[in-house]
Amino acid sequence: MIDLTEIQPRGVDRFETRRPVPPAKLDALSKEILALKKKLNAVILAHNYQVPEIQDVADFVGDSLGLSQQAARTSAYIIVFCWVHFMAETAKILNPGKIVVLPDKDAGCSLEESCPAPKLKALQDTSPNFWTIAYINCSAEVKALSDVICTSGNAVKIVNAAPKDRDLLFVPDENLGAWVMEKTGRPMTLWRGNCYVHVEWTHASIVRIRSQHPGAPLVAHPECTRAVRMLADEVCSTEKMVGYCRQSPAQAIIIATEAGMLHRLKKECPDKEFIPAPTDNCRCNECRFMKLNTLEKLYDCMANLAPRVELSEATLERARLPIERMLEISARP
Ligand code: 13P
Ligand code: SF4
Repeated sequence: MIDLTEIQPRGVDRFETRRPVPPAKLDALSKEILALKKKLNAVILAHNYQVPEIQDVADFVGDSLGLSQQAARTSAYIIVFCWVHFMAETAKILNPGKIVVLPDKDAGCSLEESCPAPKLKALQDTSPNFWTIAYINCSAEVKALSDVICTSGNAVKIVNAAPKDRDLLFVPDENLGAWVMEKTGRPMTLWRGNCYVHVEWTHASIVRIRSQHPGAPLVAHPECTRAVRMLADEVCSTEKMVGYCRQSPAQAIIIATEAGMLHRLKKECPDKEFIPAPTDNCRCNECRFMKLNTLEKLYDCMANLAPRVELSEATLERARLPIERMLEISARP
């Protein structure tokens, strides 16, 4: 059980909890989680793809940029990160002295897997002029080898701010990298990794759903392939999808990203219809890593303060620099 001597007081965070669920509508386990959160002075950060019941008990739900910003500014001593492992690591890198726990330590990511640090180092060693931009979906060791981190929400800004005299190396998502090249006109060497979920949408599956809903705009994540992106009315991060859908006059909108996004969108825009873009195979729009996290595991990780993120001093120190550089560039007007 929890050793309460580890818990230190904190100030009051002003979290922008998006459309909180009234306590009366929460089930018994969710109420216990909220009570435990209060006792621990913990903060729960959750990604837009998490299952609805986790989103509903979180202090902040958002995309990787928003979650990084929240992790950087929280005064909570215990951070509960409901997403995949690399983001919990990011929170630890920004808060080396704090406790960071996650519901399931096996929640990984196909992008992270595609880019082992030794392989990246070997490529970097082939040219001293590389400037490495790493998508946040990578391990702490890869972050430690990088010059700057980006998310889908700020990748264009980060690439535009990169030194003009350096050769850009973008890892590990080739689709996000290709989209950023189109937007910035800046050539980059792309690592050959991808999100195994977002490459499931095909040109044919999107053409089919568009023909069934002729008036509905299509919003796609930049991790989708170019064949899908070229059919989209808007390509953006998950948080920007919320903004797009809020301001769109359309009553029905087709969404090409992980299925968890639908819960957030329905909460933010209750009067609109969201149509999940179908993949050619059943349930391929659910990330198996994201779905490892359940309400039960969330409760357990808070009750046991485990699993915890632990990283070496050297990795913590070296990986902080490119993340802080990202946050600084993102905050520029
Ligand atoms: P966002 O930062 O747009 O939420 O994307 C994160 C992600 O993992 C998409 O698969
Ligand atoms: Fe990684 Fe794709 Fe899952 Fe996001 S949806 S965590 S990019 S595998």
